Amino acid sequence: MNIAMLGSGFIARFYADSLHAQRRVDRLTTVYSRNEENAKRFAADYGLEKHTTTMKEAIEDPDVDVVLISLPNHLHEEAVLACAAAGKHVLCTKPLGRNAQEAKIMLDAVEKAGVFGGYLEDLCYTPKFLKSMESIAKGDIGNVLWAKSRETHPGPHSDWFWDKEKSGGGAIIDLGCHCVEISRNFIGKNIKPIEVMCWAATQVHPIDAEDHAIGLVKYANGAIGQFEVSWTFRGGMDLRDEVMGTEGTIWVNSFLRTGFEMFTTGKGNDGYVAEKAESNTGWLFPVGDESHELGYPHMFTDMFNAIEEKRQPLENFYDGYVVNAILDAAFLSAESKTWEPVVLEDWRGDDPTTSEKQWASYDADHFIIKEEVLPNGDKKLILKHKESGKITQKVTQANG
Ligand SMILES: NC(=O)c1ccc[n+]([C@@H]2O[C@H](COP(=O)([O-])OP(=O)(O)OC[C@H]3O[C@@H](n4cnc5c(N)ncnc54)[C@H](O)[C@@H]3O)[C@@H](O)[C@H]2O)c1
Repeated sequence: MNIAMLGSGFIARFYADSLHAQRRVDRLTTVYSRNEENAKRFAADYGLEKHTTTMKEAIEDPDVDVVLISLPNHLHEEAVLACAAAGKHVLCTKPLGRNAQEAKIMLDAVEKAGVFGGYLEDLCYTPKFLKSMESIAKGDIGNVLWAKSRETHPGPHSDWFWDKEKSGGGAIIDLGCHCVEISRNFIGKNIKPIEVMCWAATQVHPIDAEDHAIGLVKYANGAIGQFEVSWTFRGGMDLRDEVMGTEGTIWVNSFLRTGFEMFTTGKGNDGYVAEKAESNTGWLFPVGDESHELGYPHMFTDMFNAIEEKRQPLENFYDGYVVNAILDAAFLSAESKTWEPVVLEDWRGDDPTTSEKQWASYDADHFIIKEEVLPNGDKKLILKHKESGKITQKVTQANG
């Protein structure tokens, strides 16, 4: 497929590096940048036939099958609407909108136009994430009770991120969108997010938006999603997830310390180590293949396969809309300091009634609370009588 890139900044280059890597067949053919020099440089770097300073020209180019939006958050809506009007398939970076209202307009536009709307949530395509999801689907960790996702770094690389009007918020919108969608996948996308409690503060930077936040997202089945996001963290980019299930646990570390450590005096290096790395001397934590570890190749494979197979990708515009709705509730909660409902005028998952709990039985009269082997080898059972509610313990001696 032929792809038009909108934007020529940081993420546009990550995407282009992933799309033109190895022996991939889908190619960028044109790039839009408002700045002629940047458009020209990007086109030369990636061997593109064309470049333009007019967004519409790139979108309406008859050779273009798919448009890839790599523009600041406040331009996503305009770009998506132009793609829908031109009948072009569209892949949009995260967050879909600055809020759920914008995201819903974009969702409705692609659905009405009958074009593909892929949500480029790369962190839901990392090899470790995909493997974790496979394990959860097989039942390896039972029912997911709590899913925490953390993304923290020392702050973004362009002016517009720091301008609340253009970005839609600070660390919550920029990083929270990743964390919320990661937890939502682990817990189950069919489970309705009900309400959010969030703490947010501007601790370090002189900006109107928050640079640090922690939030809890309560789901209809009783599971909890937790996000920890910060633009104040020092030491690089920390991407970690933890999942607690009734039968197991998953811990994933995706970026900062992935098993590759290197020492350098710094003489002769060009300064780049890995995204958001703060140091390029001494002991460093490089990343083998950043695009791969961040999920871009698997993401684009799913997107282009989905377009060909006329199916939804793992991450689509509806997911982007749900994420925005959860983040809207987080912003409200940070202000009100209470749980705030997630408002979803369009819910496509399960009926959000909490299922009744099924406790595990030991025998006809007792539930089992806990089983443990003690240091002396004895086996202890903690039981609860089903009628009286009395809690007792039963010890079986190691050699008895
Ligand atoms: N992991 C990820 O998925 C990831 C990572 C980084 C950024 N992003 C997203 O990608 C988008 C772009 O972020 P970035 O990091 O590439 O930013 P950037 O500042 O590096 O690049 C933005 C691009 O948009 C252009 N631009 C800026 N203002 C414009 C305007 N008013 N009109 C037209 N063009 C304009 C810039 O010149 C540049 O080409 C954002 O939505 C961001 O959230 C996603």
